[in-house]
Order: sequence, then structure tokens, then C-alpha cells
Amino acid sequence: MIATKSFVYLCILLVVTAATPLVYDGRAPFNLTPANLDASTGPYLTGVKGATQNASHYTKLLGRTVPATPLWSTASRFLPVPTEQPLSVSIDNTSIFVPGSSAPQNGFRRTELLAQINNNHTAFIATEVGTNVYHVSIMQDPLRPLNFDHEYQIVFIEPNDGTHVFEIQLGSPFTNPTGKLPAADAHSFKIRDHALNLLFSTPFTPLTWHNFAIQVNFDARTLGVFYSQNSNTLKPVTKLVSNSAASAGAAGQGDFHFGVLKLPLVDPADTPAEQSDVVHFGIQEGKTEALIYSGVFVEKVSGGVSAGHGTLIKPIS
Ligand SMILES: *[C@@H]1O[C@H](CO)[C@@H](O)[C@H](O)[C@H]1NC(C)=O
Ligand SMILES: *[C@@H]1O[C@H](CO)[C@@H](O)[C@H](O)[C@H]1NC(C)=O
Ligand SMILES: *[C@@H]1O[C@H](CO)[C@@H](O)[C@H](O)[C@H]1NC(C)=O
Repeated sequence: MIATKSFVYLCILLVVTAATPLVYDGRAPFNLTPANLDASTGPYLTGVKGATQNASHYTKLLGRTVPATPLWSTASRFLPVPTEQPLSVSIDNTSIFVPGSSAPQNGFRRTELLAQINNNHTAFIATEVGTNVYHVSIMQDPLRPLNFDHEYQIVFIEPNDGTHVFEIQLGSPFTNPTGKLPAADAHSFKIRDHALNLLFSTPFTPLTWHNFAIQVNFDARTLGVFYSQNSNTLKPVTKLVSNSAASAGAAGQGDFHFGVLKLPLVDPADTPAEQSDVVHFGIQEGKTEALIYSGVFVEKVSGGVSAGHGTLIKPIS
């Protein structure tokens, strides 16, 4: 019995010591509170949201009501003990972001959480040298579905020029004029590079944790994608691909966003100039919609890529 226990402790120790350097942990601990969200204390800068409500109106800490992705739970794969609480991130008709002194973004509805280290998002951005792996798990909120006629940008790194180093999309890609809705790939996740080339696509099935990891080399400007569902360990689903449209150096570094950013549909009543200004114009229904997130963290690849249940796999090369 004692020997068995020691063996268990040894295994736990091995798993811990085999870890690859963690640069950001966005897995919400059980003691994180709505007041932390409102004050942007803890892992998330919560300022990208509707101007009239507090952050905790849009982002809910789900406690133990929904189990997080089992990939990063302790104990066994078959009897996971959650170490984080999932977050539901929602938008409603008040989700109009007003950036600084700029005009309200009436075309969008958006709630996003940005990675921060010691309450400092710039400190997170400073980690974007060499190769980082961005982990995120996403599940449908069955009571507050998205409207797949719209384009949603849900996970991305955004440098100062407003472009995205990579992004995960859902829904019908925005077009002007509006095409046939919903688009054929509307119900699939789409992972795109900086030039919006499609790297990987998979259906957004319900009642499923969709686990993604995006390998980003900021120096060589390459990307690679890993994916799995529920408790299955991550597997590479792309080769190493060039991301040469992204900027090199500081201009290519940016905030890591996850949440719900919903683009409008073109409003036929608007002028052509307004129709091409998706940030400020277009049709939004104003419904409440949400996604559920867990398993958000960023690691270096120096020790390998965390694939779940304490295992490490080789980076995509
Ligand atoms: C936001 O939170 C503060 C502090 O708890 C509270 O006083 C205020 O009424 C809240 N605002 C809204 C719009 O709920
Ligand atoms: C935030 O992090 C940046 C980059 O590491 C650093 O230069 C800056 O001083 C930090 N700000 C605060 C308030 O600590
Ligand atoms: C949503 O908000 C916009 C801008 O405030 C407003 O014009 C519109 O009437 C609202 N729509 C609904 C359905 O409440």
C-alpha cells in the first residue's frame, strides 16, 4: 500500500517536473470572483466590452456547474478533478465597445478577455519572442447560441496595427454584399493565418470541449495547429506553415484575446461608405449569445507541447 502511494506521488512529481515553461495561466482558479473580473485583477484585462455594464455582467465564472476541459485536470484521465472553473463570455445588445476617446463601435458586439501577467498586459506581450503555444478550449452554450449568419472572431493575437497574427473564427465569413446565409462552413471553427488563409477547420459540435493549441513562432513567422476533443490528448493537425504576412519584431507582437466578437451584416439602407465600415455600421439583432471557455494558457515550446494528462509532445517542425 505504501509502495503504491509512493509510486503515485512519484508519478505526480514526474508530471510536474516534466512541464514546459508556462508563460501565462488563464485557467480561472476557483477563488477568482466577479469583483476580480470587474477590477481586471487576476489573469484577465476585461476592458473590451460594452461601455454601460461591468465586466461581470458579460463574463460569468461557472464554478463547478460545468466541468472544464478534462485535459488539464489532476488525478486520472477517467476520474478528473477540475482545477479551474470555466467562463461563459457573452454579448448582448449593450456590448458596444468604446475604445478610448474614439467613436462607439456600433457595428460590433464584443466581449473579450486579454491575457495579463501581474495585472499587466504589456508584460504578457513581452513574452512573444521565439515560440509560444496558445492553448484554448471552447464549448457551445446551449441556451445562448450564436447566430451563424454572422462572422465571429473568437481567439486572436492583435498587434497595434489591428491585424491578427492568427485567429479562430466561427459563423459565416463577412461579405459585402451579403452572400447566401448561413455559409457552408458557418458551423465550423476556422483557424486562419495573418493573411486569412484557412489552416484548419472542424465542426463546432455541441456538448463537446474543442481543445486547440496554436504554435506561434514570432521570429521565423510560422504557425502550427494542434486539436482534440474532450479528454483526448492534443494531436498536430497541420504542418509547420509560413505566416510571412505577419510583421517581424515588436510590430508583430500583440494582446492575446479570447471571447466573442460578432461582426454585423451589411445594412442595405446604409451608404456604400457605411457598408464598408463594419466597425461602426451594419445589422445586429441584439440577442444574448455566449461561448464557454476553459483551458486557456500559453507556454514556451522548449520542453515540448503540453498535450493533456501530463504528456508532452514534440512541437510541429
Ligand atoms: C458596477 O459595479 C459597481 C461596484 O460593485 C456598482 O456600484 C455599479 O452599480 C455596477 N454597475 C452596473 C451598471 O451594474
Ligand atoms: C508592465 O510590463 C512592461 C513590460 O514588461 C514593463 O515595461 C512595465 O513597466 C510594466 N508596468 C507596470 C506598471 O509594472
Ligand atoms: C440595439 O442597440 C442599438 C444601439 O444602441 C439600438 O439602435 C437598437 O435599437 C437595439 N436593438 C434592440 C433589438 O434592442
